[in-house]
Amino acid sequence: MYYIGVDLGTSAVKLLLMEGNGKIVNVVSKEYPLYFPNPGWSEQKPEDWWSAVKDGLKDLTGSYDKEQIAGISFGGQMHGLVILDKDDNVIRPAILWNDGRTQVETDYLNNEIGKEKLSEYTANIAFTGFTAPKILWVKNNEPENFAKIEKIMLPKDYIAYMLTGSFCTDVSDASGMLLFDVEHKCWSKEMIEICGIQESQLAKIYESYEVVGTLKPDVAKELGFPEGVKVAAGAGDNAAAAIGTGTVGDARCNISLGTSGTIFISNKTFGVDKNNALHSFAHADGSYHLMGCMLSAASCNKWWMEDILKTTDFAKEQEPITDEKLGNNHVYFLPYLMGERSPHNDANARGTFIGMTMDSSRADLYQAVLEGVAFAIRDSFEVAKSLGIDIQASKICGGGAKSPLWKKIFANVLNIRLDIIESEEGPGYGGAILAAVACGEYASVQEAADKLVKVTDTVEPDAEIANRYEERYQKFKKVYPAVKSIFPEIQ
Ligand code: XUL
Repeated sequence: MYYIGVDLGTSAVKLLLMEGNGKIVNVVSKEYPLYFPNPGWSEQKPEDWWSAVKDGLKDLTGSYDKEQIAGISFGGQMHGLVILDKDDNVIRPAILWNDGRTQVETDYLNNEIGKEKLSEYTANIAFTGFTAPKILWVKNNEPENFAKIEKIMLPKDYIAYMLTGSFCTDVSDASGMLLFDVEHKCWSKEMIEICGIQESQLAKIYESYEVVGTLKPDVAKELGFPEGVKVAAGAGDNAAAAIGTGTVGDARCNISLGTSGTIFISNKTFGVDKNNALHSFAHADGSYHLMGCMLSAASCNKWWMEDILKTTDFAKEQEPITDEKLGNNHVYFLPYLMGERSPHNDANARGTFIGMTMDSSRADLYQAVLEGVAFAIRDSFEVAKSLGIDIQASKICGGGAKSPLWKKIFANVLNIRLDIIESEEGPGYGGAILAAVACGEYASVQEAADKLVKVTDTVEPDAEIANRYEERYQKFKKVYPAVKSIFPEIQ
């Protein structure tokens, strides 16, 4: 049988066709526009996602026996606010995970309601990209739209709704809404009241590997798929990526280098970082995880290469960055092109180069960009270490993980071993695995991950380079506090 994983990302949807034995037989990607209507705002049209998913499903399966398709599931960009009216029309473009417009609402939640209360109700505090502050923003700024809301959804749940008609979500993605009591895996009555909404406007909650429905007859007909194809709830993209990289069990780590950059630590039991610098969310295997998220990771690389240098020849630009250069660069880069989430929680933060001299080269600045992202992940890694979590190795996935140089920089900046798996398609592969579990091909997510995910290579840190990076990281850490106060003034 075939299982389809849909990775509903920020730059594109990536779809993957997997055989029951875990073999990936086809991968297809469809891009859609991303809108920045104001500085720091970030929106997409759910209708664009839906047509890209349908086109992608057709292309993905075109030359395969569609009768063999058993299940579909997802890894989806998290936190996005999708609102539908009573006739199921999308009311306004989705407000995405990296949108920073909700500073007022975030401050209200953290300061007036209070971080202790938020953490007690949900296990998390407010960040500008989370869903609850966005609901309050719509309430405060677009009351006519707020009044029309019948259904509140997350991005991948909109696709599940279009495929099946089931108004559903899963525990991992729901965790990022700040409306969900993560420990008890139910909606928080207190948060619902604080946001001025009704529980009926929120979806039914499933574990990620549970079936939410089958294809609607008209959709099955349009796609040429059997009507019996099962759709499983799926997961937020980071939890799905963790499944796709076998990050299940206690204190396993995965780093994802997509548009965002995340460090994900799986936990069998529920736990909260006292300072809430790391998110405490449910995992897609039925357990929990901690996560740090930086808002611009591979997108810094893409920005520097495509928007600034106007090239797509990544290998050529990375060539001059040799081993001797690693840890010896005097230029630093703060990768806060969309503000920053973990651990600073500062929507005003901005990208910053510092330390250039007359002999600083194009390659030095590029190296600083790649290093800045690794240092920013190290910030969250340090928080995890301060909680007593001992991380000796991590998986790594996402588009950024295609670069051998960037992986080497990460291994040395974090001073840990990186395990590379067969495919870097973390969320899509995780989605397909969740579909296979939902259809009974595997007894549990753990069993599927153990059987399917294979480490094919490792990147070990080099003691000398890691030492140099240790020194540089101590300096990097001082840059943000030194420039932080200027950011609001230069908006
Ligand atoms: C996680 C987060 C991002 C998005 C990217 O909290 O906001 O990783 O899920 O798609």
